[in-house]
Amino acid sequence: MIIRIAKNLRYVLFTLVITFSLPTPAFSQNDIGIEFKDHGRTVKTLPLGDFSAIVAAASLKVFEAHERKERTYKAYPVRPLLDYIFGKGWEQAEEIVFTSMDGYQPSIPVAKFLTHDAYLAFASTDDAPFTLTNVLQNNELVQLGPLYLVWDNLQSKTLLTDGASGMPYQVIGVELTAFATRFPNLSLPAQASAPAQRGFLHFRKHCMACHTINGEGGGKAPELNYPASVVEYLKPEYLTRWIMSPVSVRYNTVMPPLAKEIPNRAQVAEEIIAYLKAMSVAKRKPVL
Ligand code: HEC
Repeated sequence: MIIRIAKNLRYVLFTLVITFSLPTPAFSQNDIGIEFKDHGRTVKTLPLGDFSAIVAAASLKVFEAHERKERTYKAYPVRPLLDYIFGKGWEQAEEIVFTSMDGYQPSIPVAKFLTHDAYLAFASTDDAPFTLTNVLQNNELVQLGPLYLVWDNLQSKTLLTDGASGMPYQVIGVELTAFATRFPNLSLPAQASAPAQRGFLHFRKHCMACHTINGEGGGKAPELNYPASVVEYLKPEYLTRWIMSPVSVRYNTVMPPLAKEIPNRAQVAEEIIAYLKAMSVAKRKPVL
């Protein structure tokens, strides 16, 4: 509930800032500034309307994991854009954190951008609305703009098994970062078990864009560790069900199930729980 209010408030504030900082006549999507940061420091805030002068837009057909069908978007290729903003040095960074208007905040390894072709979509082709019906989130109708990160995934089995992870929409921020310094309180204590360590990697990919641990991660869903961990107050069977099939616990929930495309799903869920257990004895009060 609080999350919902915070989410709406953020949207209202965002709209107000835009409305009042604009000259008349009307505000256009092109005025939205996308903030690019390098390890905490703002390098550039680029209005959406300026992107086309930097990189040529392409038309890209993708498997749309949120709708489970193919769709075509107008999009800017990510690598030349990052070259322009940061210089080639971005390739030496470890991860890229994307910030979305709704609080979603995935951290994606730079390696993925070097081995696969990512694009920032800004419109649907054929002037269809830039929205989608998110079948993973109780068929919620979502706005995709200002930017939506998509991948040239039709020919890539690896990308298809990622499901919707690594596909943030409503993107307004892009930050080069090192995971352990950006998210110290979400990281495992030393000497964690091998399953917990594998679970940590799964958690980073499939959970932390929405949830926080010790206050770190995405602001779209509840904290899972502090002050009480989900491993303490949920029966083990129900924790597994939250991960595998959230609707089997709460009617109409917007939490998506762990992606069906993931190989060894049950084991992945078990390892995520091993990570959550290890974190339950490493609580830190979130820093506001
Ligand atoms: C797209 C966003 C999103 C992703 C990704 C996501 N969740 Fe959730 N999760 C939610 C939301 C929203 C809720 C609150 C649901 C509700 O109240 O109906 C929730 C609820 C939960 C709860 C119940 C918490 C409680 O106290 O009732 C658990 C446990 C949980 N998520 C674990 C996970 C784990 C583990 C993952 C990764 C496998 C994950 N979630 C991925 C959005 C997400």
